[in-house]
Amino acid sequence: MGFKLHQHFGVLLLLVINAFINGESKNLSCDMFQGNWVIDQSYPLYNASVCPFVGKEFDCVKNKRPDHQYLQYRWQPNACSLSRFDGRNLLEKLRGKTIMFVGDSLSKNHWLSLLCMIHSSVPSAHYVVKINGATGMTTYTFMDYEAKVIYHHSLYFVDIVKEKIGRVMKLDSITSGKHWLDVDYLVFNTWHWWSRRGPTQPFDFIQDGDKVYKDMDRVVAFGKAIDTWGRWVDDNIDPLKSKVFFQGISPTHYNGTSWGEPNAQACIGQKAPFNGSTYPGTSPMALAVLKKELKSIKKPVTLLDITNLSLLRKDGHPSRYGLGKLSGRDCSHWCLAGVPDTWNVLLYNLMFSKNQL
Ligand SMILES: *[C@@H]1O[C@H](CO)[C@@H](O)[C@H](O)[C@H]1NC(C)=O
Ligand SMILES: *[C@@H]1O[C@H](CO)[C@@H](O)[C@H](O)[C@H]1NC(C)=O
Ligand SMILES: *[C@@H]1O[C@H](CO)[C@@H](O)[C@H](O)[C@H]1NC(C)=O
Ligand SMILES: *[C@@H]1O[C@H](CO)[C@@H](O)[C@H](O)[C@H]1NC(C)=O
Ligand SMILES: *[C@@H]1O[C@H](CO)[C@@H](O)[C@H](O)[C@H]1NC(C)=O
Repeated sequence: MGFKLHQHFGVLLLLVINAFINGESKNLSCDMFQGNWVIDQSYPLYNASVCPFVGKEFDCVKNKRPDHQYLQYRWQPNACSLSRFDGRNLLEKLRGKTIMFVGDSLSKNHWLSLLCMIHSSVPSAHYVVKINGATGMTTYTFMDYEAKVIYHHSLYFVDIVKEKIGRVMKLDSITSGKHWLDVDYLVFNTWHWWSRRGPTQPFDFIQDGDKVYKDMDRVVAFGKAIDTWGRWVDDNIDPLKSKVFFQGISPTHYNGTSWGEPNAQACIGQKAPFNGSTYPGTSPMALAVLKKELKSIKKPVTLLDITNLSLLRKDGHPSRYGLGKLSGRDCSHWCLAGVPDTWNVLLYNLMFSKNQL
């Protein structure tokens, strides 16, 4: 016991010295995003069929996905171990506070995963749900803790305004930021809709400063929107009140060439992760743009850098077991239980990293 304590103290001292030398506290933990997927029989973290929150589109088991091995992978960082998720502890920490996921359906995926994880830890927790169609926000309040877990549906963060010429995306304006003020934990994500064209594209023009374009390079447009968002963060976030995370870029698996199986039909029939910790395919272009933009933000923003670890999970998507019945091929969202649970384990470890000191 005494020896253990001594050892602990030594490690802590080393970490503190290290932090001191490097002049920042982020360095206290290892790089949680470098590692590999290992089979763990204690997974999944919940049974989706008893989770009242999981959407039909993510409930692959209910949609008759026959293989279940994909449920049993745990992310193991190379240089440290992650704290196990404890929903009761999370609710305690969130007492009187709010966590909000802002973004597209990948944020919904992430948010529903967290709700299921909380439910699995504290099945009896009373909650009320409030859906606000006008703002696109859905709020679960866990009454005994006065803790709110919110999803704010926002495809691009920046405004889309109806004008005479049509629907104009304004790359330099974020009026929905008013909903994010004073939130304790904010988790942002946008990307998947930026490449969308055709009838489901929800705007007709893109405005950048004074110039209005019919279209422009979407990665460039994304970068400009992230820049606008970064300036919103710098102007509005009080780091003593709010912690800001960016979910990172969630990868898709539509082309088997990227994992060495050129004949694969997208992710259909993939039953195992890519074996190894270095994915052969390239990471999404948006990630480099995002990382560059995040560097220019002065307030602290933590990147939940889930791209590489999710790239390995070609087996994690609904594929034919999502909404589209057997004709569907969703290789973009993730089954629940599944990969977003790991994003939440990582988020949980990051949210309270300072408290663990
Ligand atoms: C802290 O960061 C430095 C430089 O990035 C790295 O060499 C070192 O291994 C890190 N220490 C820990 C404990 O992560
Ligand atoms: C999940 O719950 C359902 C309904 O209670 C049950 O039938 C099923 O066996 C459970 N699955 C697992 C893997 O425990
Ligand atoms: C997959 O990517 C490869 C290499 O970039 C390309 O040659 C091929 O046409 C792509 N396949 C599909 C189905 O898009
Ligand atoms: C990955 O490959 C290693 C060595 O080739 C093998 O021992 C291991 O069983 C593989 N893991 C999985 C999950 O297939
Ligand atoms: C992600 O993978 C790419 C390519 O394999 C590599 O260059 C990059 O360093 C990795 N990033 C992280 C955070 O692991």
